Amino acid sequence: MNKTRIVVIGSGAVGSTTAFTLMLRNRADELVLIDANHSKAVGDALDMNHGIPFLGATKLWAGTYEDCKGADIIIITAGAAQREGEPRTDLLKRNVSIMESIITEVLKYNTDGILLLASNPVDVMSYYAWRKSGWPVNRVIGSGTLLDSARFRYLIGNHLGIDPRSVHAHIVGEHGDSELPVWSLANVAGTALQIDESDKAELFANTRDAAYQIISAKGATYYAIALALDRICTAILRDEGAVLNVSTLLEGYHGISDVYLGVPCIVDRNGVREILKLDLSEEEQALLQRSADKLKGLNDSITI
Ligand code: NAD
Ligand code: LAC
Repeated sequence: MNKTRIVVIGSGAVGSTTAFTLMLRNRADELVLIDANHSKAVGDALDMNHGIPFLGATKLWAGTYEDCKGADIIIITAGAAQREGEPRTDLLKRNVSIMESIITEVLKYNTDGILLLASNPVDVMSYYAWRKSGWPVNRVIGSGTLLDSARFRYLIGNHLGIDPRSVHAHIVGEHGDSELPVWSLANVAGTALQIDESDKAELFANTRDAAYQIISAKGATYYAIALALDRICTAILRDEGAVLNVSTLLEGYHGISDVYLGVPCIVDRNGVREILKLDLSEEEQALLQRSADKLKGLNDSITI
């Protein structure tokens, strides 16, 4: 029987927490950690392996790029993270060169897996990885606004006293400062949300600025993104056809093309199967266009 393998490149705060989450949830037969600081990956692997007697049979080790051979999913979380108050886009130059070396190494050993990116600015990194790898677009996925949408649903749920899993609400666009809330379609069981405009503004601001708040409090965010990455891996490995707000290439989406942005997508064993076109209001369309313009400018500023 074929074993499922997930490789996590970058065993920092996000990568190690993601690997631990995947291990707790028994998501793959084999988990591999790769980091430029190999000793960090070795330490994380040892630490996690000592938990195996409490869990199951996941095989986990600190590896090399050769271990990408046969991997179903390669998650990339390597690279610089934001300092306090720093926007994600400031990481661009540093992370493009890291991404270039990673993609070059991965391609030596794997040509048919799925690349799942979290490194920031994630929409630009995903576009770059797609172009650089030459892989079909369905197999190069960014975590996009899945985390932002989870934050949004959590905050709305809290505000209304309703389980966030029953709140249907989307954040789309950049995973970052130009993202937008799709209030026009937000609902609970098909009923419009009873929230006044000033509360809506505050709920969205707290969603958009959540990472700044967490980074200012403790230096990094990693628990919720680890769960978001696990959610995407589950949709892929179980061939779920789940609707998730991941970052993918838009072509003719409300007039937007040739840019990776977070929008609802159907995710299955082949990665992004289909993009769902939201019935956005005119104002939302204009905001999405603004977000796309910002990201296109950033894409154009890097050499691929
Ligand atoms: P971190 O500094 O804790 O970890 C980064 C790791 O990458 C380090 O262990 C480092 O050694 C490794 N690394 C650096 N260059 C490498 C290379 N060339 N090859 C392999 N490994 C390399 O940072 P973090 O907090 O884990 O954040 C990682 C990235 O994830 C950042 O870009 C951050 O902004 C991003 N992030 C994204 C989301 C999201 O929603 N998409 C959420 C949280 C963090
Ligand atoms: C987040 C990261 C920092 O938690 O992008 O949103």
